[in-house]
Amino acid sequence: MKATAKAHTNIALIKYWGKRNDELILPTNNSLSITLDGFYTTTSVAFKQDLTEDTFLLNNTPIVGEQHQRVTSFLNLVRKLAGKELYAEVKSMNAVPTAAGFASSASGFAALAAAASKAIGLNLSESELSRLTRQGSGSACRSIFGGFAEWQKGARVDGSDSFAVQVAPKEHWDIRVAAVVLSSKMKKVSSRAGMKRTVESSPFFKGWVESIPADLDAIKQGISDRDFQKVGEIAEANCLKMHATTLGANPPFTYWLDTTVTVMQTVQQLRDSGIPAYFTIDAGPNVKVLYLPQYEEEVKRTLQGIPGVSDVKLSKVGQGITFLEDETLA
Ligand code: PMV
Repeated sequence: MKATAKAHTNIALIKYWGKRNDELILPTNNSLSITLDGFYTTTSVAFKQDLTEDTFLLNNTPIVGEQHQRVTSFLNLVRKLAGKELYAEVKSMNAVPTAAGFASSASGFAALAAAASKAIGLNLSESELSRLTRQGSGSACRSIFGGFAEWQKGARVDGSDSFAVQVAPKEHWDIRVAAVVLSSKMKKVSSRAGMKRTVESSPFFKGWVESIPADLDAIKQGISDRDFQKVGEIAEANCLKMHATTLGANPPFTYWLDTTVTVMQTVQQLRDSGIPAYFTIDAGPNVKVLYLPQYEEEVKRTLQGIPGVSDVKLSKVGQGITFLEDETLA
């Protein structure tokens, strides 16, 4: 009863920001992301008769406390679905540098869901797997698919119609993402806490939700047409709208640092100089920059030259879940 799965993280072009059900992790809006080749998690899950609790090893370090609890709560869902009471040994290796500001929870929960469901003998379709993954971490449900994926918020109260679908495979379009890592750190408001405060108190939240369907229609058309300018403009504007909602929250907050704004301005200057590049930012200060492969050298050099930037990591569009036969982790 053992399986190993690999999942890549993703970056949203249309953000998931706001829940309508905190426990089931049901969103107030559809979101759309690119799965990234460069950042992934590999996880082995082995269900065993002789275990008295779940164990979790991350990058060869035993994990206890809150992170362990999240894994156990998630495995409880898998056990319930399978009707089996066995505990599991979970081993994960993260190739998602936490400093790069990617939610490693996206690749982490996608890999955990895939490995655990296979190990326990569930034979889930991709939609079913995405729906299960969603309950570990919302954005993770998009990482089941490679290329471009849309998380459909669904309408049912039990969340049965809330999962991701593929919009286009990775072969559809070779666009690139640069993760710009900033050297200074800030106290983090988790995405969970940030969303909740925004939903409960920001008067801008209503406008955010209302604006999503038009953004989604336009960006899907842009992806289908491989129209980089269109996709970039919508992604950048959607990110700015999401971050604007946090300024209206009570108490107000922002994920940006001064260098975050400098990187945003530098990307706009790149465009002024004729290089198409657009930014997006998640629930943290680091910036992700979308660009086309032929401008890679110039984009990288420019971003690396910004004072306060400690690293720039480049990625192509990645694939969805894969199962590994050689179970070296377990
Ligand atoms: O799934 P979470 O709780 O990591 O939330 C992710 C929220 C954003 O990264 C800000 C947006 C998104 O759609 O990924």
